[in-house]
Amino acid sequence: MTTPKTILVTGGAGYVGSHCVAELLDHGHRVVVFDNLRQGHAAAVPPEAAFVRADLADETALARVFSEWRFDAVFHFAALSVVGDSMRDPHAYLHGNSVTSLNLIRAAVTAGVRKLVFSSTANLFGSPKRIPIDEDEAVDPGSPYGESKFMIERALHWADRCHGLRSACLRYFNAAGAHPNGKLGEDHSPETHLIPLVMDAATGKRPHIEIFGNDYDTRDGTCIRDYIHVCDLADAHLRVLDALEERSVRYNLGNGTGYSVREVISSVERITGRTVPVKVGPRRPGDLPVLIASSERIRRDLGWEPRFPDLDSIIAGAWAWRSAHPHGFRGLAAAAE
Ligand code: UFG
Repeated sequence: MTTPKTILVTGGAGYVGSHCVAELLDHGHRVVVFDNLRQGHAAAVPPEAAFVRADLADETALARVFSEWRFDAVFHFAALSVVGDSMRDPHAYLHGNSVTSLNLIRAAVTAGVRKLVFSSTANLFGSPKRIPIDEDEAVDPGSPYGESKFMIERALHWADRCHGLRSACLRYFNAAGAHPNGKLGEDHSPETHLIPLVMDAATGKRPHIEIFGNDYDTRDGTCIRDYIHVCDLADAHLRVLDALEERSVRYNLGNGTGYSVREVISSVERITGRTVPVKVGPRRPGDLPVLIASSERIRRDLGWEPRFPDLDSIIAGAWAWRSAHPHGFRGLAAAAE
């Protein structure tokens, strides 16, 4: 039984953040969610968590939160996070994600917080030499989004060296799936992620799914990604809290298996029992042909093991959430506002 801790979760009303909040509460921790609700949903914040609706650009609001609570750790998810969008508007990512994170890091250091867990990305690896990609792979961000995450990783490196703020940089591959409790799932607006879009094409909510390029050097010509269940990501966040007693860490998080866009579409067809209309379009700027993680290091160091490694079961969970909540969080009562 771990001692209950008080954790600040920025972006805790968003997709990965809300699943981590649920995991923290399940383990008896106290949670304060800090979210501007530009992408997150008030209804994704459970009543057991305190909720502060504010923006990380607002340093006064940040200072207030750190003076009201004494945090044992910060989990930092709040960010713009769409690769293609960052190719259209690099400044929004390079400036927005870094300034808000620097504000947060400074506030945490000033308040004497010792641990920060950071939501980083596989997009750090824009030109991998080896697949699966381990933590020794050279960083060469694939987009302004990836670059913004790397800038924050570097700021955290120096916050440790200069102030003793230990950090865990968790490089997620493709977060997917939904919480088995049926209360949380993926709901972005606009939606850009493959699995929810393919499900929409299966139900007729969209006329078809467009495959972004079928001329990659892969087994069927479409891009290959490593889809990892969002609850397995959440589990990793809790495990690294203990590791941070000793030192800062960085881990790549995926299942170690890649699926092509066409294989994802086939899985959705199997799970839903429906045919998905498909059109092939041009490549999407910023996309890499293959991203597959090696998560051997976190398995070895912390005993992390994915509980939902199989794509069909990840998609079955996502489908259960989407069928029960066809409009996502819209229309659901906000528990914590
Ligand atoms: N794709 C399509 N059609 C679509 C949407 C996506 O073919 O309508 C393809 C993409 O080209 C890509 C794959 O499906 O090959 C997955 O695309 P997503 O948009 O779902 O996810 P990304 O791989 O672009 O990005 C995600 C996260 C990023 C993270 C990255 C790490 O959104 O934050 O995984 O791998 F950096």
